[in-house]
Amino acid sequence: MSSTRWADELAFTIDLARRAGGVLTASYERLERIDYKSKRDVVTDADYASEHLVIDAIKSRYPDDAILAEESGEHAGVRRDDGSHNGRTWVIDPLDGTVNYANGIPFYCVSIGLVVDDRPAVGVVLDPARDDLYSATADGAARLGDAPIRASTKEALSDYVVSMAVIGSGGLMRERRIAPKIRIHRRMGSAALALAYVANGRFDAYVQNGGLSLWDIAAAGLIAERAGAVVTNLAGGPWWSSTTKGPRSSIVAAPRVQHAPLLDLLAQQRTTVQTRR
Ligand code: IPD
Ligand code: CA
Ligand code: CA
Repeated sequence: MSSTRWADELAFTIDLARRAGGVLTASYERLERIDYKSKRDVVTDADYASEHLVIDAIKSRYPDDAILAEESGEHAGVRRDDGSHNGRTWVIDPLDGTVNYANGIPFYCVSIGLVVDDRPAVGVVLDPARDDLYSATADGAARLGDAPIRASTKEALSDYVVSMAVIGSGGLMRERRIAPKIRIHRRMGSAALALAYVANGRFDAYVQNGGLSLWDIAAAGLIAERAGAVVTNLAGGPWWSSTTKGPRSSIVAAPRVQHAPLLDLLAQQRTTVQTRR
């Protein structure tokens, strides 16, 4: 592995994602209960068990750091004598793709990111079903396992296989209108894993116009970016802001050659940022 300022954190996060993945694998298709958070969202004991494991490990290894985790929310980091914080926050989705997982569909992942001074610095996404581990640091290559990976090199949008979730009222109609311009669109049910797929060209591009929380994108956004994809929000602006609250983040990730055309297509369909699916 090449040298990175974040070598210790990267090694720690890779090991941690594997341990959390082990928790998910152990309960896969053996769930005792599924709770309904809302009409569409479920949560399982595996979400909680994975999150506990991850949080306990971070608190013991990096006790001063803050944590933002889907099921338990914000855990403040330790303040220095002058009241300041070290600027480091771990952003965790202990199980992304819970509906898939709870239904026995093996497309889900663990996502762990470290954000330093409002910039994603380390990202790891583990697909336990395939044992695919995607990783990146802000100063290094994106990798699948040990191998460096790159985003799609396809030139023509008409060849693109796009992970696309245009949510909100009229979303499916907008997808149908965009569909003739690309090869095919897919809606996978795990934002983090589908976005990580952009990093090695399994998806040529990824689009979701909102409904994403920081833990869905922290790791996979960095991984796709370090693999050479252009990653922005729906307006073409920065995809990451630590101050975003709730499921308000949107993502358009694509090779440079087709990123602006994809934004244009979405704008032509008057696609706006939504917070509900
Ligand atoms: C959800 C999934 C889904 C995306 C939603 C997320 P969860 O996360 O990533 O694909 O469309 O916006 O909330 O609930 O499975 O962790
Ligand atoms: Ca999620
Ligand atoms: Ca989750």
